[in-house]
Amino acid sequence: MSDQHEPLSPDVVEPLLEGRFGRPYVWRETCESTQDLLRGTRLPEGAVAVTEHQTEGRGRGGRRWEDAAGASLLCSILLRPPTALPAQELALVAGLAVAEAVEEHRETAGIKWPNDVLLAGRKVAGVLLEASEGVVVCGIGINVSQEESELPVGTRVPAGSLRLATGRTPDRATLLATLLRILEHRYDAWRRAGLAPLHDELEARNVLRGSRVEVGGVRGVAGRIAPDGRLTLVRDDGTTVLVASGDVVEENRS
Ligand code: BTN
Repeated sequence: MSDQHEPLSPDVVEPLLEGRFGRPYVWRETCESTQDLLRGTRLPEGAVAVTEHQTEGRGRGGRRWEDAAGASLLCSILLRPPTALPAQELALVAGLAVAEAVEEHRETAGIKWPNDVLLAGRKVAGVLLEASEGVVVCGIGINVSQEESELPVGTRVPAGSLRLATGRTPDRATLLATLLRILEHRYDAWRRAGLAPLHDELEARNVLRGSRVEVGGVRGVAGRIAPDGRLTLVRDDGTTVLVASGDVVEENRS
């Protein structure tokens, strides 16, 4: 890790935490994946694992999540959602919380349904949900201070970082504390009333609306995010379908 990055060690982060998310706080300088530090444990809801560098970082769809040591925010949060609620909706809850945390440090962020967070058309953050036995481990990766040369190339959506998009590098510990505060607030609202209280904020950041896309073999023009979190798609024959999950490919992206 380069000297310019202050580590996200407990002595730095714990004094900044305001709520129950982040307790306990597990930190490793390096690990395979923060997801594995929480999976299969008996830790309580709100436990968080953070690292400076992952050797086997995971993305959605079996892809790898690359990082430059100390330049990202790499964290996982353990959640125990009520069984009556669709756990996949947490992708939207977490995506919104990431967008709002980024916005506290700078400007309006976009959400590429279901949970990629974009600044200036480039992906700066992603969310990975891994569920088993009533537990959801919600992994979040935010590219913070990467230079162009430190970002992965050939990704479906061009990768960016907060620094490249805004010209400023937020303090990672403050960003993490902000993210955990907002995520806890949004998660609690979702537990009480589902996606309804979050829907307007999600839709306001929906960058896909009006784009030609392909999702799971279905082609059309993306529309609004429906109140239940599904993406509206108007097919070429004029019929409308609602898509529950999948990777969205924008057809006009080069
Ligand atoms: C994606 O957009 O594909 C999701 C990326 C999720 C990356 C984060 S980094 C912290 C956590 N640990 C992992 O191995 N993956 C998630």
